[in-house]
Amino acid sequence: MKFHEIVRKSRSYRRFYEDKEIPQLTLLKLVDNARLIPSAQNLQPLKYYIVEYDQRNLAFPHLKWAGYLKDWDGPIEGERPSAYIIIVSDKKISPNVMWDHGIAAQTILLGAVSKEMGGCIIRSFNSDGLASAFNISDDYKIELVVALGFPKENVIVKEIENGEDIKYYRDSEGNHYVPKRKLADIIINKCK
Ligand SMILES: Cc1cc2nc3c(=O)[nH]c(=O)nc-3n(C[C@H](O)[C@H](O)[C@H](O)COP(=O)(O)O)c2cc1C
Repeated sequence: MKFHEIVRKSRSYRRFYEDKEIPQLTLLKLVDNARLIPSAQNLQPLKYYIVEYDQRNLAFPHLKWAGYLKDWDGPIEGERPSAYIIIVSDKKISPNVMWDHGIAAQTILLGAVSKEMGGCIIRSFNSDGLASAFNISDDYKIELVVALGFPKENVIVKEIENGEDIKYYRDSEGNHYVPKRKLADIIINKCK
């Protein structure tokens, strides 16, 4: 896949073929990609908890899905992620991580898409619930969760005009539309 194709395909997927497991080695490789990302002051405060297939049900109850879809409570059993990567920061290395976790999450997602998987970055979670489910000590702050699996939904990028609604939505067939601003609308200088 060409790079732009990977980025375009790297949407937020929230419904999966839950019975398709992701091998441990694949999950480790996704984290190994994240290991190499840029890091402010090269402090590298991020660490990772890999939630494998047999632990997936421990993570799910603590996550909130698709805030704009008011009549959808998240993926039903059988369509849930088959793995998660919990991105934490080590408070002893850096008490206040600014951006590294976002770069890490996207790097994990791009790696997943390059292997025909997909996922969703999740920031709305019950931190205490996740920490106690996985015995994550107070030395770590949970920054983001990346849900992973083999996508079972069609996510369509829809270019919008300035001023149009940015909220994602689904049609009656369950296709998920994600509005994106046009290239010309995000470049603030005039290109010759
Ligand atoms: C920092 C961050 C936090 C997010 N948190 C959540 C979340 O808690 N739950 C969720 O369902 N989606 C979450 N998302 C996914 C966004 O809703 C999604 O990126 C957005 O709707 C655009 O869709 P796209 O990723 O397909 O472009 C998050 C994305 C980012 C970058």
